Amino acid sequence: MEEEKRAGTPMLLAKRADDANLTSKHRSLWNCVTVIFARMSQILRAYRTKPEASQADDTSAIWSERARKFGRRCVYDLSVPEEGFDDITSFQEKELYPLLRAQISVPPTRVLDYGCGAGRFTVSLRDLTSAEYCLGYDPCPELIEMAVAATVDPRTHFLTGTPREFFDRLRFKFDLIWMATVLGGIRGPELLKLADDLASALASRGLLFFAENTAPENPENNFWQSRPEAWYEKLFGERGVPIERVGSYLSCGNQVSIFAGRKSS
Ligand SMILES: C[S@@+](CC[C@H](N)C(=O)[O-])C[C@H]1O[C@@H](n2cnc3c(N)ncnc32)[C@H](O)[C@@H]1O
Repeated sequence: MEEEKRAGTPMLLAKRADDANLTSKHRSLWNCVTVIFARMSQILRAYRTKPEASQADDTSAIWSERARKFGRRCVYDLSVPEEGFDDITSFQEKELYPLLRAQISVPPTRVLDYGCGAGRFTVSLRDLTSAEYCLGYDPCPELIEMAVAATVDPRTHFLTGTPREFFDRLRFKFDLIWMATVLGGIRGPELLKLADDLASALASRGLLFFAENTAPENPENNFWQSRPEAWYEKLFGERGVPIERVGSYLSCGNQVSIFAGRKSS
């Protein structure tokens, strides 16, 4: 009873009603009210404490739906049909791989393909870098299922789960983190946190290499952000990973910039 007094719970409210000698009809009505009250407070509490989680959940749900509807080609502009998808991947490899090779003097031991989608670069990335271990991570389970089904390389592995789970469970750092058009799909506040996590997942002198849609202005839209190049340079520069633009290409008429830089220490 003492504990209930302190807690002020709906259960306690029901007991007080009992004390006031209400009829059984009144009592059950009162109990109903307390249950509704408890449920409403639960919903309000969940709503108040979840804004960031629901943003990540929204993104994840969008990718799952795209993956179910369009299969592996959901990771690119949907105007590209399935028949043209492998050509697009070859085109991107031709643009990106020579620039990546130019950044690598010693083969990295561990490579991360962050936001790997259905893993269309993960295996060739391991081959190109001669890494001992290459990990493709994506929060969309449907895409990771496709990646696993299409891969037989024993040195290439895939993981899914929320980004928070992924970073919290990491027990080692990466010598190279690669991202092919991932950051544009992540909104401001979530991206700041992700940049912290990526910088800490990178080994000392580790290489960050990524391609992202860029534009001189920063028009916010719902699905994909084309941010200015300087925005990404500042984002990672402030976290001890000074990057610079090392190239660019056009993707469906939009500019994609290629960035590379090593963690300072
Ligand atoms: C445009 S696709 C690119 C996929 C892959 N890099 C490729 O080029 O095939 C963007 C990917 O980012 C993933 N993604 C979305 N939010 C993410 C996050 N917070 N962390 C990591 N990946 C995320 C999506 O599930 C999706 O697979």
